[in-house]
Amino acid sequence: MDKMIVGSGAVLNGEVAVSGAKNSALKLLFASLLAEGEHVFRNVPRLKDVESTATLLQSLNCQTDFEGDVFKVRVAKPGSFEAHYDLVRKMRASILCLGPLLAKYGQAVVSLPGGCAIGTRPIDLHLEGMKALGAEITLEEGYVKAKAKRLKGAPFLFETVTVGGTENVMMAATLAEGTTILENAAKEPEIVDLAEYLIRMGAKIRGHGTSVIEIEGVNSLKPAEFSVMPDRIEAGTLLIAGAITGGEVTITKAVPEHIESLIVKLRECGFKISATDRTVTVHPLKQCQAVDITTNPYPQFPTDLQAQFMALMCVAQGTSVISETVFENRFMHVQELTRLGADITPKSRVSVVRGKPGGLTGAPVMATDLRASASLVLAGLVAKGETTVSRIYHLDRGYENLENKLSSLGAKIRRSN
Ligand code: EPZ
Repeated sequence: MDKMIVGSGAVLNGEVAVSGAKNSALKLLFASLLAEGEHVFRNVPRLKDVESTATLLQSLNCQTDFEGDVFKVRVAKPGSFEAHYDLVRKMRASILCLGPLLAKYGQAVVSLPGGCAIGTRPIDLHLEGMKALGAEITLEEGYVKAKAKRLKGAPFLFETVTVGGTENVMMAATLAEGTTILENAAKEPEIVDLAEYLIRMGAKIRGHGTSVIEIEGVNSLKPAEFSVMPDRIEAGTLLIAGAITGGEVTITKAVPEHIESLIVKLRECGFKISATDRTVTVHPLKQCQAVDITTNPYPQFPTDLQAQFMALMCVAQGTSVISETVFENRFMHVQELTRLGADITPKSRVSVVRGKPGGLTGAPVMATDLRASASLVLAGLVAKGETTVSRIYHLDRGYENLENKLSSLGAKIRRSN
């Protein structure tokens, strides 16, 4: 199994471009199920999760073709409307085929994803939303079975802000009869990207990017072309890589506004950050100061950057309190960072990090999930000696060529098996 070997001492410098956003691309690909014919997506990242999505789409009778960063999907009526357990357990986002299949064909059978490393992650709100639109939902033998003659637009209030829930119900509502109003909807940029693509397909959507989304159902949608937004979490990860090594790194093809909450925190740490329309630069700083963060839905600090920011706090001056409010079990990286010499006390959803400038030492560590893996790589960049991160298949699920991007900035990093 592949490992990442990270050497210390390099100060990262230079420019690096981000890839298309994983968490938008997956949803766009599932949304293609809403219209038969050929859809063309550009700026699609080459990731394990995109491969898994392609496999699922193929099992639903779609033809896929991925060349360069252009992903084509030819959608045809599926022979069966089932997303099998083997596919869903590998990638939770597979649940996002439920809304499109139900809306377009009036039926869907999708495996329940089960738990995952970062928490129980239920899908009850996805299902409540579908029921509000008139779907009949049963849970049988580990599968969600959903049926509806035609979905009917309705008001629906999400009890908790959920990205996947908002996306699933929004997709389902595009072909419902009448108007759906989603309240307490998620406002993530990926939701806006998805809504823009659905609009290009002919959907009538307003309010995306706010907490109230209005969808006026239409009778049919048509295939479309779309370019995936830049990956804001990758941009944030690379910015922290520059920050942690004290270098000057410019992230290009990014949308700085999407990582405003991170930029604010890095400035609080003492970093000078400059930005243009599509670039963001972190400037060198002798000693980063500790600051507190609390994760929350967009536009607040993203849970998907919590682990990486914690790596930075491990070598900051002072004590940082890191509160995780989105997932109940997203501190798995703490034990591994501790193996590198970090001083962290985790307690339920809060971790107290006592920064040790220059105090980390390389060690073998194990990745537990995607963002945890990234945090270990970042810590490895400044831990004295060599850090070997194993189980990096997690990293390959969500970062395109991370080691090449970091190497191009001067990092000593290589893959080995
Ligand atoms: C998306 O997951 C992202 N995944 C996650 O990215 C990200 O961490 C998360 O949003 C939060 O920003 C993809 O886009 C593929 P949620 P999602 O529904 O949609 C609870 C990464 O590293 N909840 O917004 O599954 C849930 O348990 C990842 O790229 C319910 O209670 O997240 C959690 O506590 C991992 N019932 C909270 O809501 C539901 O029906 C937010 O989850 C749904 C969610």
